[in-house]
Amino acid sequence: MAREGKVYVFDHPLIQHKVSLMRKTSTTVKEFRELATEVAMLMGFEATRDLALEDVEIETPMCTTQVKMLKGEDIAIVPILRAGLGFVDGMLALVPNAKVGHVGLYRDPETHKPVEYYCKLPVDIEKRECFVVDPMLATGGSAIAAIDFIKKRGATNIKFMCLIAAPEGIEALHTAHPDVDIYIAAKDECLNENAYILPGLGDAGDRLYGTK
Ligand code: URA
Repeated sequence: MAREGKVYVFDHPLIQHKVSLMRKTSTTVKEFRELATEVAMLMGFEATRDLALEDVEIETPMCTTQVKMLKGEDIAIVPILRAGLGFVDGMLALVPNAKVGHVGLYRDPETHKPVEYYCKLPVDIEKRECFVVDPMLATGGSAIAAIDFIKKRGATNIKFMCLIAAPEGIEALHTAHPDVDIYIAAKDECLNENAYILPGLGDAGDRLYGTK
């Protein structure tokens, strides 16, 4: 039976503080990027809590002993282009041997459906624990489509990480992919008429890359 995914809101004071700084209009591109990396590390620390460990024998300067080490770092980080790239450095600082896949989507102007324009994943994606990352979970459309694409390529063990989520996005993602755990730093109020999150932080891609 499929595992039932859960929604985890990381209310650690450091995460909350840094996300609040990211929301401020006065936060510069440089600061925003640095904060994204820091929050990704803090969230990644919590989201990797259930990675498997194994007993390994090592030599210390004093004696031989058994210690716990990661069983294998079979992790894939999958940013949704382009804003998801803001999470990659922070995650890689924690799990430097992780492989990184990329998924790029655009919304078809006529059908309004997400269309994949780029998808490059580790060849053994089916064996890996996949962390799909995108800072904003708004309608859920991109996250749902990206997870559809990587499931089609064989991934089964998937977690989704974002900074800020709208209730509508959480509901849609959970309904479409009930097996996927959702990790968020803040649950905001709602979406506006353009599907931007309120109060949110604006366009995460623009804020990371200084575009408008
Ligand atoms: N994407 C963003 O970057 N911001 C939002 O508020 C919603 C979607």
